[in-house]
Amino acid sequence: MTSKGIDHSGLTFRRDYFGDLKAWQALVDLLKDTFAIDIGPLQQMGGPDPSSMPFGWFDGDGLLAANLSAFAMPLVINGRPLNAAAFQSGAVRPPWRGRGLYRDLTQKALAWCEEKGFEAIVLYTDKPALYGPYGFRVLPLHAYSGKAPTVPKAQRSARRLNPRETADLEMLSAVLKTRQPVSDVLAVCESAAMFLINTQLDPGVRISWLERERAAVAWKMDAPRHVMLLDVVGGSIPSLATIIGALDVEAEIVDVLFCPDKLDWSGQAKPLESHTRLMIRAPGTIAFDRPAMLSPMADF
Ligand SMILES: CC(C)(COP(=O)(O)OP(=O)(O)OC[C@H]1O[C@@H](n2cnc3c(N)ncnc32)[C@H](O)[C@@H]1OP(=O)(O)O)[C@@H](O)C(=O)NCCC(=O)NCCS
Repeated sequence: MTSKGIDHSGLTFRRDYFGDLKAWQALVDLLKDTFAIDIGPLQQMGGPDPSSMPFGWFDGDGLLAANLSAFAMPLVINGRPLNAAAFQSGAVRPPWRGRGLYRDLTQKALAWCEEKGFEAIVLYTDKPALYGPYGFRVLPLHAYSGKAPTVPKAQRSARRLNPRETADLEMLSAVLKTRQPVSDVLAVCESAAMFLINTQLDPGVRISWLERERAAVAWKMDAPRHVMLLDVVGGSIPSLATIIGALDVEAEIVDVLFCPDKLDWSGQAKPLESHTRLMIRAPGTIAFDRPAMLSPMADF
């Protein structure tokens, strides 16, 4: 990558600034203003991922003009653990765009990943052209859809969890630490902070606790008899029949938003409709053994 110019007049560069709550709040504000998302609640839910390494340019008043954060996001792809990093919170405020600030932050984040020895880097973007020059490639994603398994009514026993309540948060955090990847084809190994904040970003997400299986199920139901299964967090992954049987719903159709290789169920793979793309930068070409997507609860 050739080094092009950067105009950072009036700005100060800081990295690793999450320990400073005023600087953290400046990132919360930047993401609110740029993407209309509020990651503020994360601070009451165990905080940002401890591996996070934010890179930012701040103005004299402490306003964050430009940011890109990297963090460790170990993955499983095709049965193999991958020591991956992820990029997130990439944004430049409009008055500071076009000055090379984002290019500068991208180069700094890439250098940090290089230093740390990550095998791959992943990111979500609606502007893939921005990352192609750095060797990132789009991964095609698929969800699965099919008939709900038939289950006896008597099984229903799941309890709803509220991640904003201390006892429920503690239980969820504990199971997130010891979880098994929800799929062997493509899944995160842990990414607890992302799971927790994603329970807050979409008000439709429900978390149900299956006591016997000691597993938390993230799911949605936007239409009658149509369940969307978003993620399963547990030391082992129960079958879809067990999961549906435990939820207090009538289900005819199930969409599974990850590869269902551990669910003892088969659905039809269908390309994911989304305005954002998952991109990966890795040596060699990555192709999934089966159609797959990352659970939306791992969105970052
Ligand atoms: C996209 C964004 C981060 C670019 O920030 P910026 O500081 O203006 O970018 P830079 O001046 O550093 O330019 C970096 C490179 O990106 C290119 N670029 C800028 N905006 C682009 C866009 N919308 N699409 C594709 N490429 C773009 C520039 O041409 C430049 O290319 P070069 O390195 O070959 O010269 C900024 O416009 C923004 O925050 N947009 C809204 C949020 C967003 O889209 N974030 C990224 C999502 S992952």
